[in-house]
Amino acid sequence: MKINGKKFHTIWLKENDEQIVQIIDQRFLPHEFVIENLETVDDVERAIREMHVRGAPLIGVAAAFGMYLSALEAIDNQQFTKYINESAEKLKAARPTAVNLAWAVDQQLELVSENYKILPSILLENAERIKKESIDRCKKIGEFGLPLIEDIYQRTEQIVNILTHCNAGWMACIDYGTATAPIYAAHDKGIPVHVWVDETRPRNQGARITAFELQEHGVPHTVITDNAGGHLMQHGEVDMVLVGTDRTARNGDVCNKIGTYLKALAAKDNNIPFYVGAPTSSIDFSLKNGFEIPIEERGEEEVKYIQGMCDGEIKKILLTPKASPAANFAFDVTPARLVTGLITEFGICKASQEELLRLYQ
Ligand code: MRU
Repeated sequence: MKINGKKFHTIWLKENDEQIVQIIDQRFLPHEFVIENLETVDDVERAIREMHVRGAPLIGVAAAFGMYLSALEAIDNQQFTKYINESAEKLKAARPTAVNLAWAVDQQLELVSENYKILPSILLENAERIKKESIDRCKKIGEFGLPLIEDIYQRTEQIVNILTHCNAGWMACIDYGTATAPIYAAHDKGIPVHVWVDETRPRNQGARITAFELQEHGVPHTVITDNAGGHLMQHGEVDMVLVGTDRTARNGDVCNKIGTYLKALAAKDNNIPFYVGAPTSSIDFSLKNGFEIPIEERGEEEVKYIQGMCDGEIKKILLTPKASPAANFAFDVTPARLVTGLITEFGICKASQEELLRLYQ
């Protein structure tokens, strides 16, 4: 994806210094475009936990690079393997819901041997592979999702209105995004699309990040409040809902940003297709259903305060009575029965154990 005409991924190695990982610090988007250097595994852990990087595929890739930095640090450590294993645990614990984190760290752990001199280069190569595969998966999701949008356009011959929740775009991944990949593919092919962007309280990933991405790519869009989707669906203003996933259980239950479930209920009630961009890295075959997925609860200040640009400065302001307690559940589970289909890198399937197993055989 391009920012001001320059191509960016969301994570990369610093030019001329392979020991520094660079990221786009998403906390300041869309107002400031900040590139941050990550030099230690603790830097990576903090960047994931505090959401400098976020989105299931991206935090997986970031953790893979974190393991590489850990191997660099461990070279001088007497207890080399212990250090690496502790780093792995730390990274996995940074955020609990997206399965991509453990998925990527475990792939790195499989390569750990006593041969500590060459381990950093092995883990770096593997992190680059995980990154590349993440991009390829999103691209494929775009290819498989495109006909769904094309189909609606051929039937209606009108602008295709797609509602999305949170940010499952290239900022949540490495490039293309999961939910947004079919949208970019349709737009680039000349199909008229318009995206309803849920603001996605409390961190406003929709209003801040999805809107920023779509704006940069020239895709028509409108930011709406989180509660507006149902109303738009009732009035024929939504042709399709397209979201991402942080973890999908093997029965097809989808865990995604808080509020997704309500959109799925409204879509069902209005006969609107509800699709999920679901790369393999976010499917957890070990879980029977979505209610086994740990739901992250974040700090109450994210609900009580809101951040934005004011007089040329990024500021945080208090929304609630100072003493009112707030609760901050970051994800919810959309039962498989409300999901029209999962768009994976291998094709589209129904959200069911049989269909997922068939696809992955
Ligand atoms: O808390 P976040 O911003 O890391 O949440 C993840 C998400 O952005 C979404 O839930 C997204 O739809 C899935 S990630 C492609």
